[in-house]
Amino acid sequence: MKYNFDKTINMTGIPSLKWGFTHGKKNPMKVEQSDIFSGDDPALPLWVADMDFPSPQPVIDALQARAEHGVYGYAYPTNSYYDAVTDWMQKRHGWRIDKEWMCVVPGVVPGLNMLIRTFVAPGERVLIQPPVYHPFFHAIKNNHTELVSNSLIYENGQYRMDFEDLEEKTRDPAVKMAILCSPHNPVGRIWSKEELLRFGEICLRNDVLVVSDEIHGDLVFQGNVFTPFATINEEFLQKSIICTAPSKTFNLAGMKTANIVIPDERLRSEYQKTLVSNGLSGIMAFGIVAVEAAYRHGEEWLEQVLEYIESNFYFLEEYIAQHIPQIRVISAEGTYLIWLDCRQLGMDREQLKRFFEEEARVFLNEGHIFGSEGEGFQRINIACTRATLAEALTRIKKAINQM
Ligand SMILES: Cc1ncc(COP(=O)(O)O)c(C=O)c1O
Repeated sequence: MKYNFDKTINMTGIPSLKWGFTHGKKNPMKVEQSDIFSGDDPALPLWVADMDFPSPQPVIDALQARAEHGVYGYAYPTNSYYDAVTDWMQKRHGWRIDKEWMCVVPGVVPGLNMLIRTFVAPGERVLIQPPVYHPFFHAIKNNHTELVSNSLIYENGQYRMDFEDLEEKTRDPAVKMAILCSPHNPVGRIWSKEELLRFGEICLRNDVLVVSDEIHGDLVFQGNVFTPFATINEEFLQKSIICTAPSKTFNLAGMKTANIVIPDERLRSEYQKTLVSNGLSGIMAFGIVAVEAAYRHGEEWLEQVLEYIESNFYFLEEYIAQHIPQIRVISAEGTYLIWLDCRQLGMDREQLKRFFEEEARVFLNEGHIFGSEGEGFQRINIACTRATLAEALTRIKKAINQM
């Protein structure tokens, strides 16, 4: 079937974080209704990593059928669920996963927190590569472990890993885990096999457990190849933990269902104990239905949405090059989160925030939340209709012209 990603979906009345809420400053559990997206002059939300598109039709059908059943008691992942996940990984990425290796958790972020809790003792260290997905920082802090930054190198508008620094930092025996963001949010890199090989060899040589967050692994632009870390060689497979989920791929983040793949039996069993002792062994009845339907029947939708997102990227790149030369777009190889270098605007953190939210009326993610390396940058989510993206860019251009 042909999907229409140009169609605007009315989000009024839907308790969508992206479209209506910001986290409470005092109580982070409480989301507060933000008036920034309502009123006479609402801002456009191009921030949190949701798409503005409905999920594939077979997912909607499967959820409707499940909802109509009416009994919503405790659920468990079925064999059919595991088959759907493992078949997808085999078909899309050439990775044969044994279903025994999988731990189903209510999201990659809770899964990551539990990984740190299991394998890194308080006071020990976890290495990450900023600018990077901000919940990595929180997971490290929340679990009383210490952050080690192996910052990416930004040169000539491109990002790459700093292997010399990685070598030096992983030599510290207190560094127990390295979290790889692959593909990388927010810089949009799809790491090459050679880069992953070098990263993995350095970590393993220094006895550092690699946790590869591959939640964006299906979102790859033409001409690029995503390599799951565990497919590189048998040693990498046995000595790594892979976090995967269809949440970004099929816009299912609210289904709170992710898969943590741990091939090593001893590591897996330790992790499972943590999940159980933290009350995280259960899953969401709708989550398993949605994930199975998406992996089984969502590929056609994915091909189409990828084409749409990629053309949104080229549209953005061209528009900014022509009309907003003060901003530099970091070339993306995948994902739908685009990293914008706004340093030429000459604004500090507060001024940038005020500029985008109050002058341009677009709500993006501030770069500094991804680490100090992101100071002066912004992240824009382009998984929206072309019309929304065009409107956002027009607003930014107008606001800059009025400066
Ligand atoms: C790299 C990365 N990991 C994890 C997540 C979120 O995972 P979940 O919603 O399954 O907790 C995101 C969401 O944007 C992400 O970009």
